Amino acid sequence: MARRTVVSMPGDGIGKIVLPEAIRVLDAVGFEADYVPADIGWEFWITEGNPLPDRTVDLLARHGLGLFGAITSKPKNEAGAELAPHLRDRGLVYYSPIVGLRQRFNLDISIRPCRSLPGNPLNFIRRNAAGGWEEPIVDAVIFRQNTEGLYGGVEWTDPPPDVRAAFETHPKFKRFADTPGPDLAISSRIFTRRACARITRAAFEYAARHGYPSVTVCEKPNVLRETSGMMEEEARKASADFPDIKLWSTNIDAQMMWLTKNPEDYSVIVAGNMFGDIVSDAFAGLVGGLGFACSANIGDEVAVFEPTHGSAPKYADLSPSIVNPIAMILTAAMLLDHVGELDRADAVRNATAAVVSEGEVRAYDMLRLPGGPDVLSKGAATTTQITDAIIRKLV
Ligand code: NAI
Ligand code: MG
Repeated sequence: MARRTVVSMPGDGIGKIVLPEAIRVLDAVGFEADYVPADIGWEFWITEGNPLPDRTVDLLARHGLGLFGAITSKPKNEAGAELAPHLRDRGLVYYSPIVGLRQRFNLDISIRPCRSLPGNPLNFIRRNAAGGWEEPIVDAVIFRQNTEGLYGGVEWTDPPPDVRAAFETHPKFKRFADTPGPDLAISSRIFTRRACARITRAAFEYAARHGYPSVTVCEKPNVLRETSGMMEEEARKASADFPDIKLWSTNIDAQMMWLTKNPEDYSVIVAGNMFGDIVSDAFAGLVGGLGFACSANIGDEVAVFEPTHGSAPKYADLSPSIVNPIAMILTAAMLLDHVGELDRADAVRNATAAVVSEGEVRAYDMLRLPGGPDVLSKGAATTTQITDAIIRKLV
């Protein structure tokens, strides 16, 4: 096995806490890697006016593999006010460095597995016909197009005259034609055939590789005929090469309703950027929420792995830390999958599952406690204790 180099980007807040925990697990499972620390996040916005310094981009371009913790973002005005004095009045605009990374390296395939771990007290339960309750086993893997759609950034308030003129060529724009520019905001939803083809094919390939019976396209083609329509069309093309895997289609709104009725019926789901973000958070909520939600951002040259949660600033300075490292540890398992270390990836997931099902070592979120230093006296484990328990289960 070749020794790997992983660019380690802890970022802000609890990113700095959970990322080193994941590296401890990777070391313990015998993954041979060097970790190169790289700068990203709020700190670098304040001191350099750039939350994604070029040196970090260069490191990722060189090594192709990144592990990311979390960053802090703040609204435009606050961001400007926190800049170092010498950087103010330069017209610098804050943008999310993780969105920047996705676009810079065309990390267009986001994978967000949402699997319930037996024994997790946060798992979704539902009432059954007899009046009792049951716990459906959720095993859904969301493929989210990660670089375009509503997050492509092509938007205006008071669109420039040529843009406005272009919109006026569309008959349906007539209703808006009298709206003054400053009162008109437009965010575009751009889909390209290439990106739709890539994400739908990736979803089918994953389903085939992991034995899932279906791929569900979750869009809104009856209303968003052009963009959602293109995604569906590409899904149909991809499905032709996978005759054993069923192609289903649901509308995002209906999907959100069915989610709590029959979540066990869905396996691989594919969606555009915005709907993928929504449906993946919704599925994550069924299997434990932010303390468990892991993700991958995959491009041709570079792949970056991150938990879904943010920097949770209110817990960042608690010592000892109480946050749940499991999302970050499951994220590290996805990195192992990506580099072909399938046995080690399974070992990490199995060890995590064993700790969850034993139920002796639980983070405050799993005990449904409001976070704070007192959770430790109420039976919650520290971040480190949870990682230690997982490491002890590695076989
Ligand atoms: P958040 O994910 O940081 O926290 C939401 C809630 O979940 C908080 O109550 C937090 O304590 C809890 N939580 C998060 N991670 C947890 C963990 N590992 N274990 C236990 N509890 C956990 O989202 P929030 O509060 O909306 O945003 C905080 C900051 O993070 C903001 O600046 C936001 O912009 C940023 N953010 C960054 C993301 C990223 O780096 N990809 C994603 C989401 C938010
Ligand atoms: Mg989100």
